[in-house]
Amino acid sequence: MLEKIKEAVEYIKNQYEVKPKFGIILGTGLGSLVNEVEVEKTIEYKDIPHFPLSTVETHSGKLIFGKLSGKQVVVMKGRFHYYEGYDMDQVTFPVRVMKLLGIEKLFISNAAGGLNPEYQVSDLMILNDHINLLPEHPLRGENINELGDRFPDMSDAYDEHLIEKALSIATEKGIRVHQGVYAAVSGPALETKAEYKYLRIIGADAVGMSTIPENIVARHMGLPCFAISVITDLGVEGKIEKVVVANIIKAAMKAEPYMTAIFKELIAAN
Ligand code: HPA
Repeated sequence: MLEKIKEAVEYIKNQYEVKPKFGIILGTGLGSLVNEVEVEKTIEYKDIPHFPLSTVETHSGKLIFGKLSGKQVVVMKGRFHYYEGYDMDQVTFPVRVMKLLGIEKLFISNAAGGLNPEYQVSDLMILNDHINLLPEHPLRGENINELGDRFPDMSDAYDEHLIEKALSIATEKGIRVHQGVYAAVSGPALETKAEYKYLRIIGADAVGMSTIPENIVARHMGLPCFAISVITDLGVEGKIEKVVVANIIKAAMKAEPYMTAIFKELIAAN
């Protein structure tokens, strides 16, 4: 595994030698932050050794290197979901690669269903914790000791300083944001009403199908992580509607400029 990661890193470094400071993973319907990047180099996933390929049509797979808010970033346009059939090593492979390329912080966005009754469609939720309900753990199997501990601590899954800073940016800009707990399920089916209720009871404020594997692997390597959900539909009793992917994408796009503003300011300040 480590060899594969190193081969991918070698390939990328041969294409583009500038070290990125921040890694960014963009969620469903949230890809346009890329338009804000002063692109210096684009590398297609299909050209990188051992890199998985995107299968979902709404994602196009490439690594984008350049400057955002004057800082050197690498953006994953297109991410890998467990429900697509990838195993957890594949889902998290790009995070390993970005870390070995030199990123110092990881930023993640995702689309999620709101469970907290105060949430509305197109609200933003900054993750302050998570509940992992995915059926496979990304660190299961032989530990890569060179990269991190066998039993990594998860008490600070999401970096407190980044959360504080993001909250103050949102206040300054008058952006409505929540802080909450994200639960990840495998999907691809959405939740039944009983499952939404269960997720709320166990302490989740939002539910989605991503982010946690990438976060765990980032924390395994000691990489501070910031993540934000766009609430694209509601799993709140009495407000549950049939979920249509087109509506999820529409809701994500509406919130996207606010999320982008927070990411940009947060990167500028770090
Ligand atoms: N459930 C799970 N994943 C999601 C949802 C949801 O309601 N909305 C967007 N991703």
